Formats: sequence, structure tokens, C-alpha cells
Amino acid sequence: YVIGIDLGTSAVKALLVTKSGEVAAEASRAYPLFHEHSGWSEQRPDDWVEATIEALKELSTAQGIDPKAIEGISFSGQMHGLVLLNGEGRPVRNAILWNDTRTTAECREIEAVLGEDLLAITRNPALEGFTLPKILWVRKHEPEAFAEAELFVLPKDYVRYKLTGNLHMDYSDAAGTLMLDVAAKVWSVELLKAFQLPESFCPPLVDSHDLTGTLLPDAAERTGLPASVKVFAGGADNACGAIGSGILEEGLTLCSIGTSGVILSYENDKTKDFGGKVHFFNHGKENAYYVMGVTLAAGYSLSWFKRTFAPDESYDQLLAGVGEVKPGAGGLLFTPYLVGERTPHADSSIRASFIGVDGSHERIHFARAVMEGITFSLNESVDMFRSAGKKVDKIVSIGGGAQNPAWLQMQADIFDAEVVSLENEQGPGLGAAMLAAYGCGWFPSLEACAELFVKHDQKYQPNPAAVETYKGLFRLYQQVYANTR
Ligand code: XUL
Repeated sequence: YVIGIDLGTSAVKALLVTKSGEVAAEASRAYPLFHEHSGWSEQRPDDWVEATIEALKELSTAQGIDPKAIEGISFSGQMHGLVLLNGEGRPVRNAILWNDTRTTAECREIEAVLGEDLLAITRNPALEGFTLPKILWVRKHEPEAFAEAELFVLPKDYVRYKLTGNLHMDYSDAAGTLMLDVAAKVWSVELLKAFQLPESFCPPLVDSHDLTGTLLPDAAERTGLPASVKVFAGGADNACGAIGSGILEEGLTLCSIGTSGVILSYENDKTKDFGGKVHFFNHGKENAYYVMGVTLAAGYSLSWFKRTFAPDESYDQLLAGVGEVKPGAGGLLFTPYLVGERTPHADSSIRASFIGVDGSHERIHFARAVMEGITFSLNESVDMFRSAGKKVDKIVSIGGGAQNPAWLQMQADIFDAEVVSLENEQGPGLGAAMLAAYGCGWFPSLEACAELFVKHDQKYQPNPAAVETYKGLFRLYQQVYANTR
């Protein structure tokens, strides 16, 4: 067996996976989030460690499992979260998470100091969620804590450190710090200098499938795993989600609709320019990259709609008949800006709208319009990828958005691409398990592992008439932002 640990924002989920890619057992533990002020979002790093140890213990003691048969473990981690460690390797304060937005002033400072170099080095814009702005915030607002800090890591790196005693960071997660020279795969000395940060502040970089050590005696005892179990670096959750969905070659794109939505496309060419409008990160596969756009309120828009207008119904009841409403929802258009938008507008103050409400509309038209609006928002990212010369012909769809066949067909029609769903979809945890399986030498490559572990289910082809209708509606959709902001 191998174990894939998905260290998420609300919980850790661990999957025990067999040599043929079947999930033999899974365990999950939740931990609290702290929002001390509006816009703040923090967690206690040791809560992640305790939850992970408990989840691992549950797997090692699961019925019928011989813990000695567990060969390797690896990680998928929530990205960007700042963990500052002192000389003894202890956190000097709580972790500041990816969804914490206190750092707008620091983002403007980074832009002012680096100018065009920011995009040239990091390939990304300065966003509140990224790590460097959080470091600058702590230095400015909590100088005592900062003086104690000797180095920083990201969430899953801290958990791995507590299990192995060794400190590392992989490229896919380091890409989200805004301190990595993404194309050269090194910490940017120039950038660190510009912000008076010593190179020793950054941990050693490794590939996601690299071995980082074995378990410390105490960790082995508490988890019930053999001390010889190999611990591999792992990757960012989006990179691991891509691996777990088989997005491992040029031409493949992922659509993931959870609370937020992601369109992510594999990229071989580290010099390809997307103008900083989308994220450009290192993949968890060696020397590969991906581009990514984010819709903040994707599944969240539909859950808001259900909570507000159909609180006592199931999603199946709410969406029954949604496939019979024609593309365009009878002239009703929705923009999903309930909590602002990231791609392409990076605007936290814009809000959502329904446009074109008609006396003939029923609730089902609104439900369809919400699904279409979420998909239009994701199509803005697809559109930008295509404008930069990427081919987007085949999209693997996962998450809540892949649960409904009418929505999958809608995705094929709006994206104008073949859409494929997965059998037994497991998300980033499976990607983490695949990194461990590859690291253990079970397969000669991640691609070979994906052939066995990632199983395609249904295929949806774009319907030419619906594609035409949606092209016109998408142009209308794109005008709403400028006209309502
Ligand atoms: C990516 C991002 C989120 C987190 C969620 O830029 O902020 O997807 O990785 O864990």
C-alpha cells in the first residue's frame, strides 16, 4: 500500500491505496479555523499534525490491513499558508492561510518594489493569498514574532517535518509563495534581496516524488506505521488534483467545481506568456507546469441558491428537469460574483447578478442560469488559455460539478470541448498517493501510474447548436462585469 494525505482547509483526509489504485480504506479528521478579525483566516500548525497522526493511526489499524505492507506516504497540501519556524523548529505564531485577505497593502508594496520583475521572476501577480505578502505583514505588524523566525514552510511541509524531522519544500508548492523563480526552479536571490530576506529563510527545494526521509521513532509509534515507511515530498493541492485526474500531458485540462472552481491546464513550455492574468505554477510532475484560473464562488453559488430558495430539498430535487430547460435558461443570465471574483477580474468588491428575469421564468430557469453562470465564469479561463495559443480539446471534470449529467453536457457545450468524468474520483489525495507509488518505484513514471489509477467514466461531446447559442451568450456574459461594477 501507499498513503495519500490531503491536508485541506477544513480537514485532513488520508487514503490507503493498493498497487492497482483501489482505495482500501480512508480516514478523515477536522480541525478548527480561526477568524479573529474580518478577512483573517488562521490555523494552528500542530492541529494539522495531531489530525494527520490520528488519521494515519486509523488507517494502520483498519480491519484486514497489515501495517507492514504500507511502503510509502506522500502529501497534497492547501497552498500558500505561512508557517514561520524558530531555531528549534517550533511555529512562532499561528499559520496565516491562503484565504486570508489582510495583506492588500503588502501586495501593493511588492508591486512597487519589483515592478515588471515580479511577473518575470514569479510568473504570477501579487495576490493577498500568496505567501510573501504574509511574511511582510508579520514583519511589519508583529516584529517580535518575526525576530524569532528563522525560516518559513508551507502547511504540508510542517506536517512532513514533524513526521520525519527533515525540512523541505517541493516546487509545486514553492511556486505559490511569490519567492520562487518559477522557470529556473530556484529561490530568487534577487527577490529575497529586494525584501531583505536571507536565503536561509527558505527551505531546500525538492521534486514532489523525491524521498524526504522515514518516520521518526515517536511518529512511527503514534501512527502505528513501520519506521521504515518512505515519506515523499508531495505537492500543492491543485497540482495533486491534476495528477489524480491524469492531467500529465499537453492538451489535457481539468475543471474542478467545488466551493470554488478551478480550470487548470498542463503546460510544457516554461516561457509561455499568459500576461499574469492566470496563475502559472510548477506541476508536481518533474519539469512540467500548469496554468490555472479560479472562480471564487463556483459550487458556492449553487449551494447559496439551494440554501436560500430550496432549503428543504436535495440537490437532486432542486435540479430535476434542469437538463430539459434549453441552453440560455429562457433568457436569464447569472454572474457568480457572490464573494467577488479572482479570474479574470481579481476584484473582491464586485457582486453577482441575475439579468433578464421574465414573468414566465420558474425556479428551474434560475437553477439552470446559476449553473450556466458558474460555467461561463470558468470559460473565461478557458478562453484566456486559448487566446495564448493553448489547445483545450479535452477536459476532465471533477468535484460537485461532475455529479450531474446535465451540467457535464453544459460544460462540453460552453467550453466547446470533450468533457470526461472519472470513475471513483478521489481528487488530490489520490494524486498524493500516486506520488508515493511513483516514488516507491512501483511505476517508471507518473503517466504509467495514471494509466492504472485514473479511470475515465462518461464522455460528453459538444453539441454544435448549443455551442453556437452559448458563444453568443458568453459574449453577453462578458459585458456584465464592466457594466455592473
Ligand atoms: C490556489 C488557492 C487554493 C488553495 C486551496 O491558488 O489559493 O486553491 O490551494 O487549498
